[in-house]
Amino acid sequence: MTFVRNAWYVAGWSPTFGRELTPLTIMDEDIVVFRTEAGKAVALTDECPHKRLPLSKGKLIGDSLQCGYHGLTFGCDGKCLRVPGQSNLPPSAWVRAYPLHEARGILWIWMGEVEKADPALVFDLPEFDDPRWAPHHGDALQIESNYLALADNLCDPAHVSFVHPTTLGNPESEDVPIDCAREGRTVVTSRWIRDAPPVGFFKAFGNFEGNVDRWHYYYLHAPCVAVIDFGSAASDEAIGEEERDKGVRLFALHFLTPVSETRSIDHWMHLRNIGLDDEEMGERMNVQFRIAFDEDKAILEAIQAREAKPPARRPLRIAVDRGPNLLRRVIAEMLEEESSPSDEKEPVQAVS
Ligand code: FES
Ligand SMILES: [Fe+2]
Repeated sequence: MTFVRNAWYVAGWSPTFGRELTPLTIMDEDIVVFRTEAGKAVALTDECPHKRLPLSKGKLIGDSLQCGYHGLTFGCDGKCLRVPGQSNLPPSAWVRAYPLHEARGILWIWMGEVEKADPALVFDLPEFDDPRWAPHHGDALQIESNYLALADNLCDPAHVSFVHPTTLGNPESEDVPIDCAREGRTVVTSRWIRDAPPVGFFKAFGNFEGNVDRWHYYYLHAPCVAVIDFGSAASDEAIGEEERDKGVRLFALHFLTPVSETRSIDHWMHLRNIGLDDEEMGERMNVQFRIAFDEDKAILEAIQAREAKPPARRPLRIAVDRGPNLLRRVIAEMLEEESSPSDEKEPVQAVS
């Protein structure tokens, strides 16, 4: 099992949830999401403890969820409120209620220990509140791949030259070395490609006349959030690494949700520092992102298909693997931490 449970994952874009019963699968767990009459999101196990009918086949009665088979009814906290035909409520008549947090048009769900679900840990970026930046939502891309293979891809700027030749990459970056660092549970991989023609994306949105300096900073906040800071500035401006706001700069955000060991969803969106009031520009950028992310999907699904067969030889390791290797180490630590009891009681002192 590769799932890190104690983390906030994206359940979906906020507008996709309403009064209807929406079934989701995250980490192989079936979950039903709905909103109360007041609009608050609720997530419960999508399985009746009686005969296992998915509760998403039932109906809402006010803010309670009634099973569609024999009418067991559950409140927003998962407690059973009613068992038709009897007056007592069996102690095991309950379903799990998942902690949720909603912000920036995104519904987050906590899959781990309830008491550790701290809303302060939900991913955020100061640029969401900065008038010099415009956020724009993208899609929920379904990928037949383990989420860690997708996370590998998101701390791997090297693939861009080869996988995204018409949008985000070009051959000029093929041999440019990648810097790699770890900051707590974040893996940062980066590189600058100086004095090279703009890639397709910046030809379309940068109005550059000549060569550009292009950067990529991939921040993979383990286990499931990637921020890709990328952009271009005219080479004759010779901007420094900390002057990226002078160029055309974007943050591409990817929120990875493991559906199962072999399937993931990538909710992606961007923030940009140009065309702030130009919604149509955001959509045109999304057209380019869709091309690029479908290219990633094709690669990852082809690799996942191979995972079904045992490898004939040990995988080759090369220099560009440093970021993904570092990520796997962080994930291994997180899994290890979750598997070892953290709050062991102090041994009781013998009273003499
Ligand atoms: S299966 Fe839900 S009440 Fe019987
Ligand atoms: Fe990619």
